[in-house]
Amino acid sequence: MKAYIDLHLHLDGAITVEIARKLEEKAGIILPEEDTELEQKLSVSETCENLNDFLKCFELPLSLLQTEETVEEAVYQVQENIKKDGIVYAEIRFAPQLHCRNGLSQKQIIEASLRGLHKSDLPCNLILCCMRGQDVKAQNMETIRLAKKYLVKDGGVVAIDLAGAEGLFPTADYKEEFEEAQRLGIPVTIHAGEADGAESVKTALEFGAVRIGHGVRSFEDPGLLQELKRRQTCLEMCPTSNRQTKAIENMEQYPLTDYLKMGICVTINTDDMAISRTTIQKEFSYVEKMYGLTEEQKERLFLNAVQSAFTTDERKKQLINEYAVRG
Ligand code: ADE
Ligand code: ZN
Repeated sequence: MKAYIDLHLHLDGAITVEIARKLEEKAGIILPEEDTELEQKLSVSETCENLNDFLKCFELPLSLLQTEETVEEAVYQVQENIKKDGIVYAEIRFAPQLHCRNGLSQKQIIEASLRGLHKSDLPCNLILCCMRGQDVKAQNMETIRLAKKYLVKDGGVVAIDLAGAEGLFPTADYKEEFEEAQRLGIPVTIHAGEADGAESVKTALEFGAVRIGHGVRSFEDPGLLQELKRRQTCLEMCPTSNRQTKAIENMEQYPLTDYLKMGICVTINTDDMAISRTTIQKEFSYVEKMYGLTEEQKERLFLNAVQSAFTTDERKKQLINEYAVRG
């Protein structure tokens, strides 16, 4: 089987029907009996108009992830699930503050996720998301404080992110969070250039992001593209998610292979595999079918992911070896 890396994978977006069934009793939630109905409830409909619409789909999976036991189990099950799909390394992200509805602390949620992470033999790391939204400053600052507390080079929390409705809450509003993250030396990736334009990506770079979640709309500013190339900033692109959220009007003009040809450090990822009904293999097949991918480009995509992964040089060497063996 081929080897893949997924650097952009949301825990709450990866709750498939099979995983939801494993969580429902522990969560104390009664799910629809029929799998087809449950799958419909756990995934986005083709009528999705934008990112704001898309984000409504997280309500059900999040309701299952409000206990330490279910968070631990979900992290473990997601790893077991992606392993079957040929993923050899992944970075799983989630926003601890979204799992505290029943009174648990962010710290308890992070510790539960670490227990789940360490149960699986798949090499994975965690990215903690701050959230865009109203009155989230204190929760975001707590996430950053805890990211520093649990920060490791591999085998745990390795970075922070900013997720949520970019079209409603501009990146620039999160200056305080990322000044603090920079002061603490926490590696940063930020969702930008997805529901907002190139300016949002530029702000993310100013905030110290070394990777950009999506970055699709960077093409709006040719100077920015040059800067992304010069810095070798990783663009964590997620084609199916971008199609569903209408990050770009016409998928025929999806810029992934253009960016790749320009020498920008592009990667292919799933974003929300259950919500988008996708897998890493489906993402690669889609790109191959729509835009064509040479063997060299496929290898480049893998090497870009290795280069940009928030992990150690030892792990990176092991991943390159794995690619050589599995292709
Ligand atoms: N959370 C889950 N998926 C997301 C996306 N595509 N953009 C922003 N926040 C998200
Ligand atoms: Zn995302």
